[in-house]
Amino acid sequence: MARKKLVRFAEVDCYPFYHDLSKSRYRSNQDRVDRIVGLQKLILDREQAGVVLELGCGSADLSIGLAKLNHQRLYVALDIQGERLWRAGQKILEEQITNLILVRGNGQELKEYFAPSTLDQIWLTFPDPQPKQRNAKHRLTHPGFLDIYRNILKPGGEVILKTDSSELYQYSLEQFEASLGWEIIQRVVDIDQVSQQALPQGSKIETYFEVKARERGERIGMVVAIH
Ligand SMILES: C[S@@+](CC[C@H](N)C(=O)[O-])C[C@H]1O[C@@H](n2cnc3c(N)ncnc32)[C@H](O)[C@@H]1O
Repeated sequence: MARKKLVRFAEVDCYPFYHDLSKSRYRSNQDRVDRIVGLQKLILDREQAGVVLELGCGSADLSIGLAKLNHQRLYVALDIQGERLWRAGQKILEEQITNLILVRGNGQELKEYFAPSTLDQIWLTFPDPQPKQRNAKHRLTHPGFLDIYRNILKPGGEVILKTDSSELYQYSLEQFEASLGWEIIQRVVDIDQVSQQALPQGSKIETYFEVKARERGERIGMVVAIH
């Protein structure tokens, strides 16, 4: 691994708000379990005020924006890639944000990280569209993921997808419609045509990938589904 990357990993690992749950990080499974239990305790303390997950957060731009808008809620920004979380960690320190946790982990393992019925919202911000059929199971709105979300969301909790991919937008609508226990409460082909007041709080916060999509002239769609 490049030296710069190693230095960043070591740096982010020292931040008190950073939890690395990736399996390769631990010599013993018990150490990892202890870390997960620690994370769950933090979440339990804030559960009543509301807990929000941003899955595939990259540099956690949305979570940082939301955490500044709503100090009561706890935000958990999770990504499989540590380097992007290092960038998020820098911003959290600079802006002295205290209600945001960074987790390095895999979305496939969310049921290990979160107790059932603990989350109020899950944001999927510009997930990779995974256009090849053989990679469909990696799409964050694949039925396998929707089952996981249903387990960890509180009743009435919501999933909010923001995407510049019309294919992923369409695919996601179809999956929510076909999967048990979901109701689509909002579908917007172009969020620029809708006011912030008519969208979930923070919908107009731009992430790194959103800025890139806008530079390419893409429309930004949104799907909100509750269970
Ligand atoms: C296109 S980027 C979007 C990043 C950010 N949300 C944004 O809008 O700028 C997709 C992100 O999802 C993460 N990702 C993809 N699959 C994941 C998974 N199964 N678990 C956790 N993160 C995942 C990638 O590492 C990447 O950072």
